[in-house]
Amino acid sequence: MAYTMQYFLFSCLLLFFISPSLAQQSFRPKALVIPVSKDTNTLQYVTRINQRTPLVPVSLVVDLGGQFLWVDCERNYVSSTYFPARCGSAVCSLARANGCGDCFSGPKPGCNNNTCGVSPDNSVTGTATSGEVAQDVVSVQSTDGSNPGQVVTVAKFIFSCGTTSLLEGLANGVMGMAGLGRTRIAFPSQFASAFSFTRKFAICLSSSNRYNGVIFFGNGPYVLLPNVDASQSLTYTPLFINPVSTASAYTAGEASAEYFIGVKSINVGDQAVQLNKTLLSINSEGVGGTKISTVNPYTILETSIFKAVTEALSDEAAARNITRVAAVSPFDVCFNSSNVLSTRLGYSVPSIELVMQNEATLWRIYGANSMVQVSSDVLCLGFVNGGSNPRTSIVIGGNQLEDNLLQFDLAESRLGFSSTLLGRQTTCSNFNFTSNA
Ligand SMILES: *[C@@H]1O[C@H](CO)[C@@H](O)[C@H](O)[C@H]1NC(C)=O
Ligand SMILES: *[C@@H]1O[C@H](CO)[C@@H](O)[C@H](O)[C@H]1NC(C)=O
Ligand SMILES: *[C@@H]1O[C@H](CO)[C@@H](O)[C@H](O)[C@H]1NC(C)=O
Ligand SMILES: *[C@@H]1O[C@H](CO)[C@@H](O)[C@H](O)[C@H]1NC(C)=O
Ligand SMILES: *[C@@H]1O[C@H](CO)[C@@H](O)[C@H](O)[C@H]1NC(C)=O
Repeated sequence: MAYTMQYFLFSCLLLFFISPSLAQQSFRPKALVIPVSKDTNTLQYVTRINQRTPLVPVSLVVDLGGQFLWVDCERNYVSSTYFPARCGSAVCSLARANGCGDCFSGPKPGCNNNTCGVSPDNSVTGTATSGEVAQDVVSVQSTDGSNPGQVVTVAKFIFSCGTTSLLEGLANGVMGMAGLGRTRIAFPSQFASAFSFTRKFAICLSSSNRYNGVIFFGNGPYVLLPNVDASQSLTYTPLFINPVSTASAYTAGEASAEYFIGVKSINVGDQAVQLNKTLLSINSEGVGGTKISTVNPYTILETSIFKAVTEALSDEAAARNITRVAAVSPFDVCFNSSNVLSTRLGYSVPSIELVMQNEATLWRIYGANSMVQVSSDVLCLGFVNGGSNPRTSIVIGGNQLEDNLLQFDLAESRLGFSSTLLGRQTTCSNFNFTSNA
């Protein structure tokens, strides 16, 4: 009952704030699409949206578990439609803003009196500042699932102002981070509210440095050339909420905005690996469990899990006459590739399977996602050792997500995953970005 009431209030607030944007638009999109490229220097995934008035393109590092959009408001923020959120306003409560303040060097974007603030987080470096909550125009392309279509606009998209120094460690040319996490003001919820579609989104990261991957907001189809609807081949597993925030700065009692799944065991080459199962669940302090991250380029395993998996893999590889060679940082386990066949699913090495809620629910990681080619004759397992007391035991990183479709369904609290699309003769760089508007 209490929940329903709260939800009702939230919905009212959302409608109230978003109605100006709806009023201007007769066209209501079913889904939206944004491109994602991979930055070669940092291995970060970068997207681009348009923001402000007049609109400017804004490049952002994609942070799957990020709480909201934050951009650098210190440098070159010019907009006639920038609205700071006044203390005590509904926008402040939607943003779960923590505080209310004045700013003496303004007024300008990021520095106004009587505004509420949140903590924009550079999750790559683990640095957070405090930043004004604000609203401005955001515009992206709609999609029918096959091509981008008409451009649509959210007139008062809620975000936070970061500083120029908070950009340190992020890819060249980016102006902030795009949070896709499970908060009311992250992209998935704001877009879903603005256009009244279900709270679902999907990411499909490209392994290519040249061709874009794609993020969809809203329901499928998610069509990749040659006419493969990747939304049709998903396996589902529940999403879990970590009760303790994993952000760089947070207030007590805040839950994590990141996406956790229930990995129950790990197989290497069809054999279960012995693991300390305690590490696989989230305890009351928010420690343990498995999350999915786009800001970590490679999967990170707690040290005992790492050892168990890499030993099993090395044994299997040795049985196939694949020779281990010296480690190449940041990896520990590398092989001479001269004895390794290439297949449609990447290098032919034993697959690594993440076993979810039951034995039939497997996320299979084949060579294309498990191995990284570091030189002409050396391949390394693209997993790194996370040490003995990490906050989260398993962090599934970017290399393991590429050319997989992942659909996050916030309403049903479940993840749909495809395993590699290479087996279906397509990749995440096969969305047709030619507009048919
Ligand atoms: C904020 O208010 C103070 C007075 O309380 C004033 O000196 C200052 O100029 C104001 N700053 C802005 C950004 O309006
Ligand atoms: C398993 O992990 C938990 C949590 O880190 C630890 O307390 C426990 O001692 C471990 N058990 C074994 C058998 O290593
Ligand atoms: C591995 O190499 C040994 C010796 O060269 C050979 O006898 C064996 O058949 C090879 N095994 C496989 C699986 O290729
Ligand atoms: C890999 O194996 C080939 C063929 O046996 C050999 O020529 C090459 O030097 C090896 N490379 C490394 C890095 O060990
Ligand atoms: C991509 O979409 C455009 C616009 O609908 C279409 O003309 C073109 O043939 C498509 N490309 C491919 C490779 O199907």
